[in-house]
Amino acid sequence: MKRIGILTGGGDCPGLNAVIRAVVRKGIVYHGLSVAGIKSGWQGLLTGEIEELTLDSVSGILPKGGTILRTSRTNPFSNQDGPRRLMDNLKRHRIEALIVVGGEDTLGVAYKISQMGVRLVGVPKTIDNDLPSTDYSFGFDTAVTIATEAIDRLHSTAESHHRVMVVEVMGRHTGWIATIAGIAAGADCILVPEVPFSIEDVCRTLRKRQARGKDFSVVVVAEGAKPAECEDLVTSSSQVDAFGHVRLGGIANFVGQEIERRTGMEVRVTILGHVQRGGSPTPFDRVLATRFGIAAVDLVVAGQFGKMVSLRGNRIEAVDLAEVTSGLKALDMEIYEIAKVFFG
Ligand code: F6P
Repeated sequence: MKRIGILTGGGDCPGLNAVIRAVVRKGIVYHGLSVAGIKSGWQGLLTGEIEELTLDSVSGILPKGGTILRTSRTNPFSNQDGPRRLMDNLKRHRIEALIVVGGEDTLGVAYKISQMGVRLVGVPKTIDNDLPSTDYSFGFDTAVTIATEAIDRLHSTAESHHRVMVVEVMGRHTGWIATIAGIAAGADCILVPEVPFSIEDVCRTLRKRQARGKDFSVVVVAEGAKPAECEDLVTSSSQVDAFGHVRLGGIANFVGQEIERRTGMEVRVTILGHVQRGGSPTPFDRVLATRFGIAAVDLVVAGQFGKMVSLRGNRIEAVDLAEVTSGLKALDMEIYEIAKVFFG
């Protein structure tokens, strides 16, 4: 093995640069590889936009948010010619194996092309923490840290003004961020995609809290949460991406309006949005991303393809990509039960 490539795909996430740095450092210094940096996820492999990564190009990037390689939500299978163009560019740039850093969609493509013979290893990335077969993906801890700080801040202003604060956090399919940040910041109610909610129950919870003398509350809602009686998710745009996902956002407005209408309590809504994905990774994410990057390049050199690196307990292990692409990791209901003890 002489030359490998690395790409980052899907939504960005704090820690991507730590993975790139680890792959390049271990790959060049310990394995004598050269490393091709593929720009903007699968897009760069379709167009051949590829740059050489050197020890110099990864110097100083460890604490930086985003990805020096850029990213996109490009799906090479949207185009009939896509897979062939990927193969051609791998050959043209003499890339013998790939390290693919991504979430469900990017790793789904990785699995498909690994079935077609491309030698690759995946690295789990998503702030949502919804990838199966790994206890954590990097980026999640940073998102939770940002959300916790935001909820703490909303708490103090909620109390001063006797208000209900409804705060919307990310989590397209799962309530990991909402629940972990909600527990950490002492939320009075948490709404998650895994548990369709009744707005009347939410109001009951807030009234119960009011009845015991608490004239302020904080409600945390994951963007993918939906009321039991409603079929559709609340979206911020009618557009869908190349993988068919709608753009979520705005469920907190519905929740806030209904609370105000039904209880007469004064409500303010905050949608945290991409703040949760930006900026410097936490130490936990920097270390996890570094461990993943090192393990990924070691697997490539060992010829262990079609795998994803994963965190199990405190150990880094390799799991089959097939296992990873078989569904999402829903919120652990035992953790949600803990959160519920503090509702109301
Ligand atoms: O998948 C991670 C995520 O941050 C989701 O929580 C969110 O729904 C989505 O990405 C937002 O994507 P975009 O950056 O395309 O708006």
